[in-house]
Amino acid sequence: MLRGVILAGGLGTRLYPLTKVTSKHLLPVGNEPMIFHSVKQLTTAGITDILIVTNPEYVGDFVNALGSGKDFGCEFTYRVQEEAKGIAHALALAEGFASGGKIAVLLGDNIFENSIQHAVRDFDTQQRGARVLLKQVPDPEHYGVAVLNRNHRIVAIEEKPEYPQSDYAVVGAYFYDTSVFDIIRTVEPSARGEYEITDVNNAYIQREELEYSLVHGKWVDAGTTFDSLTEAHQILLSSSDW
Ligand code: DAU
Repeated sequence: MLRGVILAGGLGTRLYPLTKVTSKHLLPVGNEPMIFHSVKQLTTAGITDILIVTNPEYVGDFVNALGSGKDFGCEFTYRVQEEAKGIAHALALAEGFASGGKIAVLLGDNIFENSIQHAVRDFDTQQRGARVLLKQVPDPEHYGVAVLNRNHRIVAIEEKPEYPQSDYAVVGAYFYDTSVFDIIRTVEPSARGEYEITDVNNAYIQREELEYSLVHGKWVDAGTTFDSLTEAHQILLSSSDW
């Protein structure tokens, strides 16, 4: 059974001073704290065993907001990432929780208009490897960008490239088989000093084991700017319940 991981650590500096008192993932989006959306994405897809990775400062706030999981029809486990050393670094903390099984990973600041359960189903049928979700965007330079060949295969992912080779952003929803933890151990910190999830995904490309699904409907990384937070708010207020 697929287990879920929601990454909600990091510093949240881009949304300061809103993040002066708590994590950006607990700020209101639509009618709820932001992280409720990621929880709902997973439970809607039938994933009810969920690990929350937070920073040390706000772990208490997450436990207060989410509790055991009873109210959400799931079970939460919590782990603390001592230092914000990147998404792959946070994901490494999930190794014991995954206990040799496949995982679905969501970045807790990514908001989707629609359910991503189609991608979960796609991954269920996948023998091995990893799967990412792509969305065409007007500003790909702010994200991981997928380079596709003429057979529509991903041949590389570039992290926030100055000159993007496509307009397909790799959004913050990833699916991995158990080899992801061995791959993370091979990753070196990037120029910005972080263990990049893009390096992990590129390792799967080298193995010819990276597939993708497309996002249906709108998507926003709510943690980037105040405008993106407003957009996330509007998306959730107007999206029909799924
Ligand atoms: O939103 C999609 C983008 O997310 C991807 O297109 C990029 O390839 C990927 O690198 C990432 O880019 P960001 O620069 O937006 O990542 P950010 O630092 O905002 O972190 C995203 C989430 O990951 C955030 O909700 C908290 C969590 N995180 C981040 C870091 C750096 C952690 O849990 N621990 C960390 O150390």
